[in-house]
Amino acid sequence: MKLFDVYPLYDIEPVRGAGARVYDAAGTEYLDFYGGHAVISIGHSHPHYVQKITEQVQKLGFYSNSIQNSLQHELAKKLGELSQLNDYQLFLISSGAEANENALKLASFHNGRKKVIAFKKAFHGRTSAAVNITHDPKIVAPINEGFEKAFFDLNDIESVQTAVLKGDVCAVIVEGIQGIGGIHIPDIHFLKQLQTICNQTDTILILDEIQSGYGRSGKFFAYQYADIQPDLVTTAKGMGNGFPIGALLIHPKFKAKHGLLGTTFGGSHLACAAAIAVLDVLKSEFLIENAATLGNYAMRQLKSLPGVKIVRGLGLMIGVEFNFPVAALRKALVFNEKVFVGSASEPNTIRLLPPLNVNKQDVDKLVSKLRHALIALQPKSVSI
Ligand SMILES: Cc1ncc(COP(=O)(O)O)c(C=O)c1O
Repeated sequence: MKLFDVYPLYDIEPVRGAGARVYDAAGTEYLDFYGGHAVISIGHSHPHYVQKITEQVQKLGFYSNSIQNSLQHELAKKLGELSQLNDYQLFLISSGAEANENALKLASFHNGRKKVIAFKKAFHGRTSAAVNITHDPKIVAPINEGFEKAFFDLNDIESVQTAVLKGDVCAVIVEGIQGIGGIHIPDIHFLKQLQTICNQTDTILILDEIQSGYGRSGKFFAYQYADIQPDLVTTAKGMGNGFPIGALLIHPKFKAKHGLLGTTFGGSHLACAAAIAVLDVLKSEFLIENAATLGNYAMRQLKSLPGVKIVRGLGLMIGVEFNFPVAALRKALVFNEKVFVGSASEPNTIRLLPPLNVNKQDVDKLVSKLRHALIALQPKSVSI
């Protein structure tokens, strides 16, 4: 059997990692400012994480959601404390798309409606409902087009208001910071108004914090800069530092009913052990604070690079938009400078999503490697 060839691959194979570094079999070191799609939150192979998972799998890796699992309660308590959402309820799944899928389902169960509002450049996952509200027709199959949706410009509150006030919108879904779209931050005022019009019309406000959550923005969730209370918050990626786990955080106004939602793998013993270890490290090593400080430092340094048009971001979720398409620059960074960075759906933007425990030296190294790559490339549009 061969693999279904859907991923364009770099011909590099990391075999081990430590902190913000990965290494191939020959020992070549790569600086990781991408975290495997924003997944690595506490650094590769963090010793506390390795220990917690190892101990758990030696005891019990998995049993079903039909028995007691005190690890789920420990995770809910620690997540409630660190995110300051103690009064929300937790539903555990195994991926980001699944979190959004269940959020949309819960919203529709709640108000009986079907129409969803999302935003241009949004990415919410590849499962059926989640992909239907992802702003990329190429990845939406006919079978996914199961309900009416509308896409508006991010921050265009007037258009959203006109649509929502008709009273037939099930949910509005917005990323805490748009990730794949190129790192675009919703305005604080926009989020506050969105919450107000959703509350007025019993429309469910879903904050997709799958990429922007878990401390990456310098707050636990990026929407917390706007001081709002979403109805549903979805998260995944950094939650398990590579172990597949996702979550739906549910406002107290939703009442649970047996059988309403369900999953086989969500909230397994092993997944909970991984997620608890992540929260322990985020707290004990002050990584949310580190993300805020290092993010500000990185953004200041990045602005001084040649060819940079704009640097956008919060904490360690940073988009650097250049005056030229970045495909060649990314290639040079990986193969010549040995640095991983991410792309975006905008061809001129790179995304920086490093582990939250990077230090000042790591940032300086990234900036110097970027400068070196830019000078070596000297694209016509870059004035060095
Ligand atoms: C904002 C956002 N939502 C949802 C998803 C889907 O998550 P997953 O790939 O775990 O299904 C992603 C993945 O990149 C994402 O960035």
